[in-house]
Amino acid sequence: MSDAIIKVESLRKSFGDHEVLKKIDFEIKKGEVICIIGSSGSGKSTLLRCINHLETPTEGEILFHDVPIKNTGRALSEYRTKVGMVFQSFNLFNNMTVFDNCMSGTKKVLHLEKEECKSRAITHLKQVGMAPYIHAKPSQLSGGQKQRVAIARALCMNPEVLLFDEPTSALDPEMVGEVLNVMKKLASEGLTMIIVTHEMEFAKNVSTRTIFMDDGYVVEDDIPQNLFTNPKNPRTREFLKRYMES
Ligand SMILES: Nc1ncnc2c1ncn2[C@@H]1O[C@H](COP(=O)(O)OP(=O)(O)O)[C@@H](O)[C@H]1O
Ligand SMILES: [Mg+2]
Repeated sequence: MSDAIIKVESLRKSFGDHEVLKKIDFEIKKGEVICIIGSSGSGKSTLLRCINHLETPTEGEILFHDVPIKNTGRALSEYRTKVGMVFQSFNLFNNMTVFDNCMSGTKKVLHLEKEECKSRAITHLKQVGMAPYIHAKPSQLSGGQKQRVAIARALCMNPEVLLFDEPTSALDPEMVGEVLNVMKKLASEGLTMIIVTHEMEFAKNVSTRTIFMDDGYVVEDDIPQNLFTNPKNPRTREFLKRYMES
């Protein structure tokens, strides 16, 4: 047994004859916070979607505690309760209150007792600072508040790993900070996370490892102190330089 929660082994993904992921290997251990950075179109979302099996890998494997993920309905839905995902576009149920949104998964997927669903919802809404809005509908919330509810809803499932795909990219600039602060707090509480982000300061300060992807490859995978201040690969250097300039 290795101590990796998730291992990505020789992962390739093609859409038609367009190879989007080209032999990706990496792993994540308990308590690690991995930020994935890279230009638009480099394959970051596809990688997260393969990890969550929203996309089926063309080649290679995703191992969860050393066991390959099976593509059957039951095994997959069980896996997805342990590996949660937070999307750029929140994906809340707009016809439900904040409270019901947070209880939907624990009720319908985990089939927990009503009291347990309630208690988890309250705990995690408090954790993200959204308890005062428990009876609000998503339409009454700002983007930053919606994203914090989406994070609380994901936490209610007690995931072992939480995947984030550009969680602040759809937000007005003044709301980015409140969401990043929640994620920073989760990191300090030991939650294992893989975060695709363009927030370089966040990646630099919060990640335990940063991965730079370019054109379907993991070009560099290192502690942020090295990757941001002394990148080994010329492509990483070029990307960071362009980023600093813009
Ligand atoms: N479902 C799909 N069908 C065809 N091509 C896709 C699909 N999803 C992503 N792609 C292509 O894969 C490449 C990588 O996309 P993506 O993973 O979304 O990159 P990123 O998240 O880094 O911006 C892009 O060229 C994109 O057009
Ligand atoms: Mg993307």
